[in-house]
Amino acid sequence: MCGIVGYAGSREASDVLLGALSGLEYRGYDSAGISVLTENGIDTVKSKGRLQALADRLKTHPLSGHCGIGHTRWATHGEPSDLNAHPHVTEKLSLVHNGIIENYQQIKNKLVTSGYEFVSRTDTEVAAKLIDSLYSGDPVDTIRRAQEQLEGSYAFAILFADHPGTIYATRKGSPLIAAKTETEGFIASDVPAILQYTRTYVLLEELQIAAVSADGISLFNPDGSQPVLEYRTASWTVEQAQKGGYPHFMLKEIYEQPKALRDTVHPRISDGLPSFELQDDIPEGFWKQFEAVTIVACGTAMHAGMLGKALIEKLARIPVECDIASEFRYRDPILTPRTLVLLISQSGETADTLAALRLAKERGITTLAVVNVTGSSIAREADYVIHTYAGPEIAVASTKAYSVQLSVMYLIAFKLALANRRISGEEAQNLTAGLLHAIDATEQVLTLGADIQEYIKRYQTLKDLFFLGRGLDYALSMEGSLKLKEISYIHCEAYAAGELKHGTISLITEGVPVVAVATQSALLPKMISNVKEVHSRGADILLICKDGFEVDPDVYSKCIRLPALDDLFMPVIGVLVLQLLAYHTAVLRGCDVDKPRNLAKSVTVE
Ligand code: F6R
Repeated sequence: MCGIVGYAGSREASDVLLGALSGLEYRGYDSAGISVLTENGIDTVKSKGRLQALADRLKTHPLSGHCGIGHTRWATHGEPSDLNAHPHVTEKLSLVHNGIIENYQQIKNKLVTSGYEFVSRTDTEVAAKLIDSLYSGDPVDTIRRAQEQLEGSYAFAILFADHPGTIYATRKGSPLIAAKTETEGFIASDVPAILQYTRTYVLLEELQIAAVSADGISLFNPDGSQPVLEYRTASWTVEQAQKGGYPHFMLKEIYEQPKALRDTVHPRISDGLPSFELQDDIPEGFWKQFEAVTIVACGTAMHAGMLGKALIEKLARIPVECDIASEFRYRDPILTPRTLVLLISQSGETADTLAALRLAKERGITTLAVVNVTGSSIAREADYVIHTYAGPEIAVASTKAYSVQLSVMYLIAFKLALANRRISGEEAQNLTAGLLHAIDATEQVLTLGADIQEYIKRYQTLKDLFFLGRGLDYALSMEGSLKLKEISYIHCEAYAAGELKHGTISLITEGVPVVAVATQSALLPKMISNVKEVHSRGADILLICKDGFEVDPDVYSKCIRLPALDDLFMPVIGVLVLQLLAYHTAVLRGCDVDKPRNLAKSVTVE
């Protein structure tokens, strides 16, 4: 999604801004631009395409000055183009924007009546011209008056031509930070933008306005008061946010999973049992109060939630709903005072998940968020938070974040089962040991890459593929399917294996590839019957199963065997194979693995 940066200091602003924007490239974008306050006023360079295209343009049109703003745009209103790229400029100011202005058309109509002309198709140009029309010479006062008219979500960074050396910024529903060194000030929509320059930053609260210069940061509350600045230190390092010798961030992040899992799980084990008391400040009594759980998330995080549902229902015998956040928020969900709303999000900024959290809170329901990014909106607004420790996830396709989310689902399921007296302390200890054992086994599974690479050569020109699974393997297959389709552009569908014959089996013809995930001992005979159904219609089957399972070799073209763990823990290792499958297929097909087309890392619009 879009990225914002701003700089005020003594260096050439365009160099710093380009560097900062490169730290945000992973978020996904289709155009970029920079404005700098030069000797001759605000000057702007924009370009459709990657940052390199902008850097090339800056060679022929250099921007010299020490204060500026920059942006990477992920198109919402208006196609990716030079014209629609940010910044949007008027005589008085230049503005970059993340988010969506929902009432832009009404504001635009009024501005047109009063003589403004529009060149782009963006809602952002409307915001720039609204602020221009309201400008009184006092940026903070003007921004506040603009806020009264703007509906929707926004983070803005603004350069005013008559206020050299200062960047103004504000936010509503879209994240923004202000950062500093002794002699420089920065604005950014996300921590990786500033990591190469500083690790000291403050988070802007909703509707706060920041004025950032080389001398430091000033914040203004909506009532005009100035809060004491609460500085944070980014715990993520520059190295973590770099490829470290791997060809892609995605592969690096796949290989980081054993560590990410240990970092997340180990601090939450005490006396061999799960405990969220010390690490997350969640009292023991917390877990006893719920008679239902509703898990809300999007995409990959929702797939972790689907496994969470299966685990909690199986172990704790508490009914769990798992809902897509964008559906949950508009379906008037049934939530009782004893429902726990459990939100899962890597970024902590996904607009629909954040809105779902707010809806639950408005109804007085207890909310618990599982979030990877500290200080993100969801982490700050939820009643309780379990932080996952995956470190920065840069590749657009989520891998290590999914695994750590899943590991937390196991711990929560054990905890709820204990609290509800569905399992004894000893059983909980055994389960916890089982999880740790599964985490150890991930190292072994990561060695299967070469085997997978060899097999998937046949997927070079593939158009469609089906995943089949039952029980936990079905939920896992959904994640495998999403991963493969989002980065390799192969159309994939995941089916509950028993459901295929109710319609979709008509698509299975000679040579259609099927990935059959069969790691559940109890479901193996049923699963193999389903595999045979597609095999006898010509499917080309890649079977992923547990070591020791006896399967007629005639029914598959290739079998990948996973370490034989207890059924319950097979998803912990099974997902690694599916991630490797997606990764190597995308590389084989020459896809831009880390930045798949049309996708954004953090989806901050509905
Ligand atoms: C897919 C992927 C997305 C995210 C989804 C939610 O690989 O990354 O499906 O899982 O956009 O994002 P978060 O977890 O940041 O709320």
